[in-house]
Amino acid sequence: MTTLPKPEKRLRRLRHTPAMRALVREHDFELSDLIHPLFIEENIVDSVELSTMPGIVRLPENQLADEVRALYALGIRYVMPFGISHHKDEAGSDTWDDEGLLARMVRTIKSACPEMMVIPDICFCEYTTHGHCGIVHDHCVDNDATLENLVKQSVTAAKAGADMLAPSAMMDGQVKAIRAGLDAVGYEHVAILAHAVKFASSFYGPFRAAVDSELDGDRKGYQMDYANGRQALQEALLDEAEGADILMVKPGTPYLDVLANLRRETHLPLAAYQVGGEYAAIKFAALAGALDEKAVVFETLTGFKRAGAQLVVSYYTKQVAQWLADEQ
Ligand code: PBG
Ligand code: ZN
Repeated sequence: MTTLPKPEKRLRRLRHTPAMRALVREHDFELSDLIHPLFIEENIVDSVELSTMPGIVRLPENQLADEVRALYALGIRYVMPFGISHHKDEAGSDTWDDEGLLARMVRTIKSACPEMMVIPDICFCEYTTHGHCGIVHDHCVDNDATLENLVKQSVTAAKAGADMLAPSAMMDGQVKAIRAGLDAVGYEHVAILAHAVKFASSFYGPFRAAVDSELDGDRKGYQMDYANGRQALQEALLDEAEGADILMVKPGTPYLDVLANLRRETHLPLAAYQVGGEYAAIKFAALAGALDEKAVVFETLTGFKRAGAQLVVSYYTKQVAQWLADEQ
C-alpha cells in the first residue's frame, strides 16, 4: 500500500454533526431581513394570478387591507407596494395625486396596520402610457424633468404615510433631489432605500408582464449595463453621498460580486432585490420537479446575506414566513 501524504488541515472536523455545523455557521437570514413586494391593481374585483410568477397575484385594492393584516400575522413587517394603474398618462401624474393609486395604497396599508412599514417603489413606469421611468423627450428619458416629478411623487408618498421610499428610476441626482424635497417640507424622518445599482436586466421580464408595462424597447439609456462592476460602485457611492440610507443592488443572484465589493466600500446597510425572473426561475423549476423549492430559496437568501446584504426584497417572503411558521 502506498502511503499517501496525510492532510495537513482537516476542515471536515467542523462538519461532522448538525450541532457542530450550527456552531460555526457564519450566516443566516431571519424574517426581519425580508421585504415583501405587493402588486395592487385599481378597478378590479377579483385577484389575478400572474402567469409569469405562479403563486403571486395582483390584488384588488379592496383586498389590500386584509392581505396586509394577514402578512403582519405571519410576522412580516415590511412591504413594498407596486401599483397597476388604470390612469396612465405621458408623465405618470397619478403618482403625485393625493387621491391617486400610490397615495391610496400607502394610506390603506398604514391604516390597516400602522406597525407595517411601507416602502413604496418610487418610479413612473407603471403609470406612464409609454412605460418609461420618466418624461420622454425626443425618444429619450429627460433626466432633470423627471427629477422634478420624482420629488412630487416622493412628497405625496411621504404625506400618505410611507416610512421609507425606494426610488428605482435610475435618474442621475434622484436621491439628492428626493432628500432635499422631503426635508424641505418636514419629512426629514422618511428614509431612502436607493435602487443604487440597478442593471438593465432580462430578469425583469416576469415583472413587466405582471404590471402590464407598456414599454416597447428597453431601459438601457438609464439602467446600468450588466457588464460594469466598477461603474456599479460609482453609482452606489454617489447615492451614499447624495443621502441614501440603504443601498440596493438589483437583480440579486447574478450580481453577488457587486454586493460583496460594495460591502467593502461603505458602512451603509445593503439590500439585494431577488427580482421576478429569479423568483420565476426557481418556481418553474420547482413546479417541474427539478428543484427542491424551499431548500433553494433558503440557499439563495443565505447567499445574499453572505455576500453582504442586511436585507432582501423577495417575492418569496410570504412563503418563507409560512415555511418558518410550519417549522415551529
Ligand atoms: C421599475 C421597476 C422594475 C422593477 C421594480 N421597479 C423593473 C423594470 O425596470 O422594468 C423590477 C422588479 C422585478 O423584476 O421583480 N422601475
Ligand atoms: Zn421604472
